[in-house]
Amino acid sequence: MVEEYGQDFGVVSGGVYPELAEQIAGILDKELIDIDRKRFLDGERYVRFNESVRKRDLFVIQSLTEMNGYSLNDALMETLLIVDAAKRASADWVTVVWPLMPYARQDRKARNREPISVSVVIRMLEIIGTNRIVTVDLHSAQSQAIFNRPFDHLTAEPLIRGRLAQIIGKKKSDYLMVSPDAGRAKESEQYADELGIELIHMPKSRDRSDTSKLRRPPKIDGVVGKTCIVIDDMIATGGTIISAAETLKKSGAKAVMLAATHGILSGNALEKFQNSSIEKLILVDTLPQERTIKALGSRVEILPVAPMIAESLRRVLVGESVAELFHDMNNK
Ligand code: R5P
Repeated sequence: MVEEYGQDFGVVSGGVYPELAEQIAGILDKELIDIDRKRFLDGERYVRFNESVRKRDLFVIQSLTEMNGYSLNDALMETLLIVDAAKRASADWVTVVWPLMPYARQDRKARNREPISVSVVIRMLEIIGTNRIVTVDLHSAQSQAIFNRPFDHLTAEPLIRGRLAQIIGKKKSDYLMVSPDAGRAKESEQYADELGIELIHMPKSRDRSDTSKLRRPPKIDGVVGKTCIVIDDMIATGGTIISAAETLKKSGAKAVMLAATHGILSGNALEKFQNSSIEKLILVDTLPQERTIKALGSRVEILPVAPMIAESLRRVLVGESVAELFHDMNNK
């Protein structure tokens, strides 16, 4: 393995979604590093490597979500503990692979006296000695600037776009790309261009004192008889994307398909999807999606993120360009 990649490396998994780390390690032809992870009765977490990591390059893979007895913050803390243990055990280079960057939406002060939470999280990684961060579809690409070391920002856009292109086939005029808010306008435009379909923008505003409250226009022009495709970086409560879908249906759309990289699907989001008229939901498994598959059956399609992450890590190891893998689309 040293010969093939130029250095000895290892893949370490956090406890939230080890299946993803196993898939990535498998593609790189590695076994996961043997590590103990546990939770004390008072809620504190503990980790310990059961094998030497001295002089090795480590990829620490953790999905940040509530799962397997972890809260999101447990998952975050466990990542920090793994990095700290690795650095103290003389690992050479430690890369944190967070397929979904936690707290990524809190990337600015929307109101006075708020924290910039993503900055707190990224600076914590830097302080404990993380050498590199790898993540997929950051809410805002400029959050990379918080980290003063290499940051590989991957995008699932080619994966999602490839699947959409298959679905659309030659019937381009039947489809319409819909940008669900100003934040996704640029990406939606790129999708529409690449897929060769028309684009419309849909206004969205949030109540500043209660950001869970959304405002949408009751109807929107130009969608009658079309299959509308709405894309977003993440679906959390589903509020953004479901309200867009409802407006589109009320405005005469034939069908609505949604696609997003991160399916957080918090609270009663799955129930909302079940009760909606949304025809198809396309997600990437940066987070575990068993619950989603169970709830939505054939209405959901899950695209695998492991091959893309594994190929990026391989390129990191052998010193090949990661940007080229994404045709420079990963840092828009
Ligand atoms: C907003 O700016 C994001 O891109 C997503 O549209 C939003 O965070 C999704 O959250 P929810 O599903 O709760 O509306």
